[in-house]
Amino acid sequence: MEIKVVFDPDRVTGQRDERIYGHFIEHFHNQIYGGIFNPGSPLSDEHGFRTDVLEAWKRIRPPVVRWPGGCFVSAYHWKDGVGPERQPHFDKAWRVEDTNEFGTDEFIALCRKLGTAPYICTNAGTGTPEEMSDWVEYCNLRTEGKWAKLRMANGHAEPHNVTYWSIGNENYLPGEMGAKTPEEWGRFVRESAKMMKRVDPSIELFAASVADLDWNIHLLREAGPFLDWLSIHGYWDPLWQDNRLSDYETCMLYTTRIENQIQTTRHILGVMGYLGKIRVAFDEWNLRGWHHPNVNTATDPKDYIGTRDLNDLDDSYTMADALFSACFLNLCLKHSDLVGMANYAPSVNTRGLIRTHENGIVLRPAYHVFDMYVNGLGDRVIDSWIAGNPSLSVRHGEASADIPVLDCSATLAGDSGEVRLSLINRHPEKAVKLRLQSRDGREAVKSWISLAADSKDAYNDKDNPERVRPVPIDGTLRNGGPVIELAPHSVNIIGM
Ligand code: AHR
Repeated sequence: MEIKVVFDPDRVTGQRDERIYGHFIEHFHNQIYGGIFNPGSPLSDEHGFRTDVLEAWKRIRPPVVRWPGGCFVSAYHWKDGVGPERQPHFDKAWRVEDTNEFGTDEFIALCRKLGTAPYICTNAGTGTPEEMSDWVEYCNLRTEGKWAKLRMANGHAEPHNVTYWSIGNENYLPGEMGAKTPEEWGRFVRESAKMMKRVDPSIELFAASVADLDWNIHLLREAGPFLDWLSIHGYWDPLWQDNRLSDYETCMLYTTRIENQIQTTRHILGVMGYLGKIRVAFDEWNLRGWHHPNVNTATDPKDYIGTRDLNDLDDSYTMADALFSACFLNLCLKHSDLVGMANYAPSVNTRGLIRTHENGIVLRPAYHVFDMYVNGLGDRVIDSWIAGNPSLSVRHGEASADIPVLDCSATLAGDSGEVRLSLINRHPEKAVKLRLQSRDGREAVKSWISLAADSKDAYNDKDNPERVRPVPIDGTLRNGGPVIELAPHSVNIIGM
């Protein structure tokens, strides 16, 4: 049977929210200190930000950046991180001293340089509703009250105007500082939301959530009227303790395990009457879980701090990361009515899109997927499907599973009426020939960018920074009609 990718430019199924191309940075390892914010580096600007990082980051047009955590935030007191005198504090999440040199005002300065919207996640672990609402005062009130006046005294006469505020981070997890029961969480979120909205009713509120009915019944019953977003997280390769990365084929299996979280959350919102009122922010996602072994048990720093350097090994981030990220973003497009924000975790260093080293940066394969999607796909999602999609059998432990070889999404670009397709070939070795069939009869392939590489395990590093990069392909038609061949383990953006 001939394989066909069929799409209908006249059937718009959704409007892509650009915030699905969002970002997350945390006070963890060298994401901020020694990464983005490195005043001592000759590559940094007058404010201490790495200019090469800023330049690469701006190229993928970040719509929103979430900060400061993550687990870090659940014992972080923001007032320690503003003003001329910064007292170091002991970061109980990651068991290191944080100088507090990078705080709210530095984060806002970073966002201004990136031209992006700040998104602040507040401390619902050891923090209080008042500490959260004080933070909103500091950022968003013009002059009223002590916290707005403190911001002004710190040299920021104008409000920071932070729209996005999350109450808490993963407080459903027993290991999170300030973990709470569903009953406690619903009430706590309501009281925090009341305080924050009283300061600035225009803010958009998120609350830490998980695809679990009991958790969300209490959360939505108590605080649903105050919420705009449910924050859910996803890491599929569980590397926090053991840094044995899953192989390419297993990672392709993981691409079939993303949608269930979205669907479960959709059904919960539906049954609770909030579908269409509260949207999903997948505000931490990455194929790879971060590696931070023994974080709560080790006594020797080399066993729980030194091991974090393993996150920075560039050969960990291959075509598996690129294809997983593309499949994830395709699902965000498919569920564009519900998923309005997604934040890659993290953007710089650790498992990030960009890795910094002393003399420059490495753009990892998933960075190029963001570049291709942000700059290559359109904003209106149109109906598309794959006829005759072959399947690939992959082993996972003792079991095996059949997964679809191809994945696709289709969009319309701006007013041009041009269709922009994302076509993914998951197969580790085989190219796939397929016909592109448009319901309106168009046939010309106007553009084709492919991220393929010479191996499924290919990666970029300091010595070979462009082994994996997008390359234009001559859209020469074969067999007389729009029949194309997708390289193995490739992400392709095609314009028609
Ligand atoms: O592994 C990093 C952690 O993953 C983040 O701090 C937290 O939000 C998530 O559980």
